Amino acid sequence: MKSIKEEIEQLKKEKNAVILAHYYVPDEVQEIADYIGDSYYLSKKAKETEAEIIVFAGVSFMGESAKILNPSKTVLMPDGDADCPMAHMASVEKVQKMRTIYQDLAVVCYINSTAELKTVSDVCVTSSNAVKIVKALPNRNIFFIPDGNLAAYVAEQVPEKNIIPNDGYCPVHREITPQLLEQAKKKYPQAEVLVHPECVQKVLQQADFIGSTSEIISHAEQSFQKEFIIGTEEGVLYELKKKCPDKIFHCVMEGQCCSDMKKVTLEKVRDSLKNGTYEIQVPEVVSQKALKALDTMLELAK
Ligand code: 13P
Ligand code: SF4
Repeated sequence: MKSIKEEIEQLKKEKNAVILAHYYVPDEVQEIADYIGDSYYLSKKAKETEAEIIVFAGVSFMGESAKILNPSKTVLMPDGDADCPMAHMASVEKVQKMRTIYQDLAVVCYINSTAELKTVSDVCVTSSNAVKIVKALPNRNIFFIPDGNLAAYVAEQVPEKNIIPNDGYCPVHREITPQLLEQAKKKYPQAEVLVHPECVQKVLQQADFIGSTSEIISHAEQSFQKEFIIGTEEGVLYELKKKCPDKIFHCVMEGQCCSDMKKVTLEKVRDSLKNGTYEIQVPEVVSQKALKALDTMLELAK
């Protein structure tokens, strides 16, 4: 009898499929992925791929973005309910209202957002390119949706702009509190602190390095330090330990875990390849408008 991994390999070949996975999905799913990375890397891979089918081991905004960027491909989500709560924490009405207040307004939309929010935005960003893109925009007034924490981080890096933050947040990164980080630093005084910009500002202020998941991993690889405190979802530990087998990694707290990312299992990856579930559909009118914001990101991030 074939193992699930062997079944996946065979189905992938038969169907001309590629598996993209984010660092937060379970280890065994990362292990069978063709490409694994942060949101920016994965969106580039989704656009470039020549495979017929993209299986996206991640949450719905990732699959939606892949479909919008490469509409002739079939995009499948192993779990149809794996969704990012932050993606819904802004509204089209709020964006429209903001546009009536500021004449010179750019709406910058974190890729962790619904396709609908992308349709009313000027440009998308990810955590690895947000600072670069906001700096490059001609507008002084920027409405940054949906993540208020990433907005605050960008505002600090780009003080010449008036960044109006929205009040969305990632529930996983918000649980990593400044107090918990202080305790972890006392426990591991030698450790370098690497955190994601979705964390609250007081956590970012205590960090040695702030970056996307991929940036955290490359920083740990290149650092002379041997011990690290990690302030992001614990799924990154799989790649960190693989790339840096001699280094030691501690989470700020127990259970830094995104329950939506963890819905993606090997069985569900196999079943989605076998049965064509759950296929992402984006209405044409939404797709065309959202594509502009995503393409502008890819252009400005180069
Ligand atoms: P990055 O991998 O782009 O840093 O994104 C983190 C995240 O929260 C994805 O949902
Ligand atoms: Fe959304 Fe946070 Fe989960 Fe990323 S970690 S998918 S931002 S809830």
